[in-house]
Amino acid sequence: MAEDNSPMTSAFANRLRKNLAHWSKWARRRGVTCFRIYDRDVPQFPFAIDWYEAISPRTETHLHVQEIDTGWKMTDEDYTAWLVAVCDAICEVCAIPAGQLHLKRRERQRGTSQYEKLDDVAAEAFVVLEAGHRFEVNFDSYLDTGLFLDHRPMRAMVAESIAGRAKRGNGTRFLNLFAYTGSFTVHAAIAGAGHSTTVDLSNTYQAWTSRNFAHNGIDAHRHVLVRADVLGWLVGAVATKQRYDVIVLDPPSFSNSKKMQDDLDVQRDHVRLVTQCHELLSAGGELFFSTNLRSFEIEPQLVQKMSLREITHQSVPEDFQRPNRRGPHRAWRTGI
Ligand SMILES: C[S@@+](CC[C@H](N)C(=O)[O-])C[C@H]1O[C@@H](n2cnc3c(N)ncnc32)[C@H](O)[C@@H]1O
Repeated sequence: MAEDNSPMTSAFANRLRKNLAHWSKWARRRGVTCFRIYDRDVPQFPFAIDWYEAISPRTETHLHVQEIDTGWKMTDEDYTAWLVAVCDAICEVCAIPAGQLHLKRRERQRGTSQYEKLDDVAAEAFVVLEAGHRFEVNFDSYLDTGLFLDHRPMRAMVAESIAGRAKRGNGTRFLNLFAYTGSFTVHAAIAGAGHSTTVDLSNTYQAWTSRNFAHNGIDAHRHVLVRADVLGWLVGAVATKQRYDVIVLDPPSFSNSKKMQDDLDVQRDHVRLVTQCHELLSAGGELFFSTNLRSFEIEPQLVQKMSLREITHQSVPEDFQRPNRRGPHRAWRTGI
């Protein structure tokens, strides 16, 4: 393969090297093993690069590299050559073999196969650690890996809230809505939630949550998985006066699966969703609400009525913060 020694690629490699030194030190001090090492820091290289230290089936580091679509155009040939040069530079700086770099491209074209699993190759599942808990990740089969790293501090906040309640001895009930692979529930269960309900529409993700429970020895009898449309499920839960002490509500920006009766638009529907969750809270209970819709505006009356406090400053981890840029999510907390 032709070597690319262009000054721009060198500038990118230098920046990545600096970032890696900084964030590795930052992570080591905090016992964090999965973290963001690069986020569009050189604008001409629009990538987000996440570092994952797997503990199983082998101890090895993987890089999840997402190309972000900035709309700029190159010829197919130039684009492929550029992408290969970028991946080569990343592997060299991070001292990672090409097979451990997983590239998610904005467009699917041929030419960088060493960095992309072919569709018919079964992707391997790995286990990584967060706060000592085990989470299955998959770098190749989906757009996301199974663990949203930007929610790391919020998972710690939820765990802390549950642990405080568990210490006071009142069998905490936890509810996880739009749960994906159940990572909030794993933290909640290990922190001492007596019971939990984890709701998601997807069989694939509920099966993944089950495996995450198994990886952590979580009792599936007390920690219930519900495959349902949250919109319909909430109506039933409110009608039957269910009560939860801690709730996580983290809807996608939009959703319109065939399995749903109505589509979901977080901007349009958040007042209803937050209000319904509020009704399900026990006395002294609390709700965590998060959204990754960039343009999201919370209804001011809802903030007042539900005593919502924006916690985005604490909930977006340092490795995801960049000056003058909106973070990956915004979050609010109600209750105490
Ligand atoms: C943004 S992810 C949630 C991330 C998760 N809270 C976390 O931090 O790991 C969105 C999830 O919502 C699920 N989903 C989308 N529409 C849904 C619906 N109407 N009811 C239930 N789950 C839904 C998807 O299957 C997906 O797992």
